[in-house]
Amino acid sequence: MQGERVLPAGLVQGRTMAKKIGVLFGGENSFPGALVEEINAQVSARGIDGLRAEFVATGAVLHDRAPRYAVIVDRISHAVPFYRAFLKQAVLHGTVVINNPFWASADDKFFNYALARKLGVAVPATVLLPHKQTPAGVTDRSMRNLEYPLDWEAVFAAVGEHGFLKPIDGGGGRDVQEVHGREEFFRAYDQSRELCMVYQKAVDYTEYFRCYVVGQKKVRILPYDPHRPHAERYLQSPPLAGKMLLKRVRKDAISLCRALGYEFNSVEFAIERGVPYAIDFMNPVPDADPRTLGQASFDWAVKEVADLAIARAKSASRGQEPRGDAFLGRGSARGNAAKKKAKAVAIRLKQE
Ligand SMILES: Nc1ncnc2c1ncn2[C@@H]1O[C@H](COP(=O)(O)OP(=O)(O)O)[C@@H](O)[C@H]1O
Ligand SMILES: [Mg+2]
Repeated sequence: MQGERVLPAGLVQGRTMAKKIGVLFGGENSFPGALVEEINAQVSARGIDGLRAEFVATGAVLHDRAPRYAVIVDRISHAVPFYRAFLKQAVLHGTVVINNPFWASADDKFFNYALARKLGVAVPATVLLPHKQTPAGVTDRSMRNLEYPLDWEAVFAAVGEHGFLKPIDGGGGRDVQEVHGREEFFRAYDQSRELCMVYQKAVDYTEYFRCYVVGQKKVRILPYDPHRPHAERYLQSPPLAGKMLLKRVRKDAISLCRALGYEFNSVEFAIERGVPYAIDFMNPVPDADPRTLGQASFDWAVKEVADLAIARAKSASRGQEPRGDAFLGRGSARGNAAKKKAKAVAIRLKQE
């Protein structure tokens, strides 16, 4: 094996093999199977040759062996470091991963809010707080750059007394606490262990949307009530908001996904006095259970992700330039294509 040239996904000794779209998943039972079926049905209905979908199968991974997949739709690597490492190596060899495992590893919610603000998307005032307990293996001696005591007056002046404490990399509402006043704040903060938390102003909303965004283009806005039991949160009724507001929600959801490079994401907005505040848009594995989403939205997500995976498989390329910063672009082989396109446009403009 040593020294042998690594061939891109889909190519074996100069022969083109059928391209494969793999689905990598954890405990969920509905979405992965529906996605494989939908992709294979679309491939045969559209007469696309040499492409098929299946569940990913992998054992131990050899560092210089190209994976078998042109595209992998990832639903679990956030919870399994082995899968995350497998996917990064796959990207190196040209597999497009939805969502990009490099960016998913680098992202955090505080960065998200700061970025949203730069994009002109409304976000509630948010402050990053030092860990309540120093991370394991770190002593106070390692934290001497930290101001002590912290200027809590400034924190409350920025955010107010009614807010949410949440981890910068959480999900599923884990360790998210709503607090009313300083006493509740400090009680919650004292329980936040070694987690890195943000404190965010509470939005007093009249409507709440969870938007599914696929391929940074398609958006489905789902009215959502976070106060209901899990299985009833997606309201099966159309949004009440007016056209202009929905247009803004759609536009903001797309700008966030484009800026963050997510190809499949859910973006939450809380609407207060006609302003959509972005609350949570770091969901690279959005909920995809027909029992909660509702069958129509589930079918929509399956179809759109299938379309996206097929499009990305058809344009799948030759692997990634082996440079760390090249991997953060979406997917990620498309990062190169986008760069080339930008360069071509720049040259054309220069010539004009
Ligand atoms: N600033 C806020 N204003 C109002 N509600 C919020 C705010 N932040 C979070 N929430 C509520 O808490 C829930 C969980 O917070 P979220 O940021 O979505 O974390 P997670 O990523 O764990 O889902 C949200 O769905 C929303 O109901
Ligand atoms: Mg959320």
